[in-house]
Amino acid sequence: MRVQSFLIGGFLGLLQVASCSPTPKSLPQPPTRVERTAPTSTFSNNVIFSPPSNAGWTDPRVLYSRVIELSDGSLIATWENYSPEPPLVYYPIYKSLDGGVTWSEVGKVEDQVNGWGMRYQPFLYELPQAIGNYPAGTILVVGNSIPTDLSQTKIDVYASTDGGENWDFVSSIASGGEARPTNGLTPVWEPFFIVYNNQLICYYADQRDSSYGQKLVHQTTSNLLTWSSTVDDVHDTSNYIARPGMPVLTLLPNGNYIYLYEVCGTDGCRLHYRLTSNPLNLINATAYSLVSTAGTRPVSSPFVVWSSVGGANGSIIVSSGSQSNIFVNKNLGASGYWVEYSVPQPRAYSRTLMTFKEDDNLLAIMGAGFLPPSSVNQVSLSVVDLTALGI
Ligand SMILES: *[C@@H]1O[C@H](CO)[C@@H](O)[C@H](O)[C@H]1NC(C)=O
Ligand SMILES: *[C@@H]1O[C@H](CO)[C@@H](O)[C@H](O)[C@H]1NC(C)=O
Repeated sequence: MRVQSFLIGGFLGLLQVASCSPTPKSLPQPPTRVERTAPTSTFSNNVIFSPPSNAGWTDPRVLYSRVIELSDGSLIATWENYSPEPPLVYYPIYKSLDGGVTWSEVGKVEDQVNGWGMRYQPFLYELPQAIGNYPAGTILVVGNSIPTDLSQTKIDVYASTDGGENWDFVSSIASGGEARPTNGLTPVWEPFFIVYNNQLICYYADQRDSSYGQKLVHQTTSNLLTWSSTVDDVHDTSNYIARPGMPVLTLLPNGNYIYLYEVCGTDGCRLHYRLTSNPLNLINATAYSLVSTAGTRPVSSPFVVWSSVGGANGSIIVSSGSQSNIFVNKNLGASGYWVEYSVPQPRAYSRTLMTFKEDDNLLAIMGAGFLPPSSVNQVSLSVVDLTALGI
């Protein structure tokens, strides 16, 4: 069901038929917000999408989900979607108008330029301000376009200005080699967007530099069309085999950014982080290991958000690939203050976190199962009440 055309198009159509006037004084405007942004109650592991079991879906079926709240209050979600090929794989766009309780597919981000498909690592972002000719409110998807034989990687950007129904190719940020996490190959991976200082920054993992098994870099743009050259964010000058990866970042109320990543190769993909007021200069920021007060060192695929709940500093909330528990820091990222809280959303590879704009005591946690082999992955979402968790 095309949610938005039903709501807006249906309404418009009715009005035009009913009035029959030659020139209506003013057309009704689309609603600026849905009635309520946040769900009215918490819920646990609500399944949004489960692929048909008998229809030739490729292992792991679904993976690596992402969800954001748009400024109109609706939620949109996407994920790696291993549907039978042909047709080439794409990122499905699902929308919820009731805080994540019910969902319907409203669009698809299909490869318009490579003939490869949109295969891995989608990331959703709504522009908080205009960038070039793209106005505030433009929805972006950046992801890894990869052919079926995994022989190449390319981080491409698509934009929607109609709530996620239709998508147009915008630009390409980086091209790399074979899509396997083997040192010596040259793929690019796992893009993440944030606007800073009137520029859009894309963080990602990069295997093209022969000095490092993998490193973390960023590129910037002020028009969404042309991108700066790469700047290193994390690299290990003493260990070629180190593979820092999967960068994510969020702004804290003291003006610092917390930047999280995994370190594979030398540290078992455990999570590390950096704190800096300048997200363009991560390379010189002090690095910390994330260790909980219970002694847990979470592993792989971090995600991070900040909520105002939890005292004067609010709370930094981190998800990892190894634990169902979330990791909460009420001390602006100070080492030694990471506390674990149990949540009903199962562990998954690369879960997403999202706080609701209307009520950031409510935290959404979305996951889509495990790396292959996995025949049971499905996309699901929990919403938890942070105060009720004890935060
Ligand atoms: C990081 O520190 C080094 C050594 O002090 C310096 O040469 C370099 O310019 C710094 N990088 C940035 C981006 O500031
Ligand atoms: C906020 O964080 C700072 C820095 O770690 C800490 O000194 C302070 O005690 C924290 N405030 C609260 C209310 O937790």
